[in-house]
Parts: sequence; C-alpha cells; structure tokens
Amino acid sequence: MAVLKLFPTLVYCARLTGAAAGKIDARLLRECLQLRQDDPAGRKWSAGRYPGGYTSYGSAHRMHRMSPTFAALERAIDRHVARFASSLELDLAGRKLAMTDCWVNIMPRGTAHGLHLHPLSTISGTYYVKTPRGSPGLKLEDPRLERMMAAPPRRAAAARENRPWIVLPARAGGVVLFESWLRHEVPANPIAGERISISFNYSWF
Ligand code: NI
Repeated sequence: MAVLKLFPTLVYCARLTGAAAGKIDARLLRECLQLRQDDPAGRKWSAGRYPGGYTSYGSAHRMHRMSPTFAALERAIDRHVARFASSLELDLAGRKLAMTDCWVNIMPRGTAHGLHLHPLSTISGTYYVKTPRGSPGLKLEDPRLERMMAAPPRRAAAARENRPWIVLPARAGGVVLFESWLRHEVPANPIAGERISISFNYSWF
C-alpha cells in the first residue's frame, strides 16, 4: 500500500542573511516609523481599513523604488524568492519574478489584519522588522478549506501538514514567502509593543 502526499502547499521561511541583513535592520526600523509620521494619506487610508494601525499599502506601496534601504532589502529578498521558485519548480520560461509592491505595516495593540490573499501577484511575503515578545504570528489557511463540506475535524494533535490552520511565529530578521493565492491573516496584536513588518508582492513578467 501507499499513502501519497499530493499537491503540497509550500511555504518558505528563512533568516535574511548576507552582509546587508545586519546593516539595514536599524535603518529599516527608523524609516518605517518615519514614514508613518510623514504620510498623512497613509494614516487616513489606514484609519478606515487597518483600525488602530498604520500601513502604507494605500499610499507608499513601492518603497523599494523610493528608499535605498528598501532597495537593499529587495536585493536580499530576491535571492530567497529565487530559491523558493526553484523549490516550487516554477517554469518561468525566461520571464522574471520581480518585486512589484513593498509596503510597511505597523500594528499596535489591538490591530489585526483579517483573512485575505494577494490577487494579481505570484509570490507574496513578509519581512519582520520588529516583533516584541508575544507578537502575533502569521496564520495560514488550508487552501482547500471551502471544499471540506462534510469533512470531520482533524485531531487536536494532528501532524502539521494535516491541520486546517498553521500559525508561523513572527521573528524579527525572518522572511516568509508563499504563493499569493494562499489565504492568510494576522490575528490582533495582544501586547503593548508595536509589531512592525514589511510586506511585498512579486509578479511574473
Ligand atoms: Ni497579506
């Protein structure tokens, strides 16, 4: 007999390594906080869509084009995206996966980011800039969930690959990548410290 594991959902987790990583973290943190101060349009956009928090998604969403620090982050992440694409065995046929959007997220206590996916992109992900102890992780949902009409629940201690949701811890200096169709959310931040991250999309050109 054989039990096959077919159609896996691949998620890539790594530390940002290389010369750039240590050097840019402090600058990224400074620039994220500065951007919030300097971006009234973003604060207004966030007030309706990201209550309590700040995101530059609606205002400054090409930070890799606006800041040399973010451009350095882009170059570091490019290498991880290439490795992930290789693990996925994507046939890119001479076209290039390139960063199209890159934005800042700051979550104070109580701010959440509900379930969503990233339409019109190929690979999405996040780089964690500041994650005080107790910061919420990234919750990923089994992409087949809406088809499981009469499926029994899984045992509480089921193996990770059999669970309907997985929460990946958020750790500063870490990068997580997934295919853009994978639905995910960030639960409400329960702690006083702000959780700061940079999210991005890659598309296939
Ligand atoms: Ni997202």
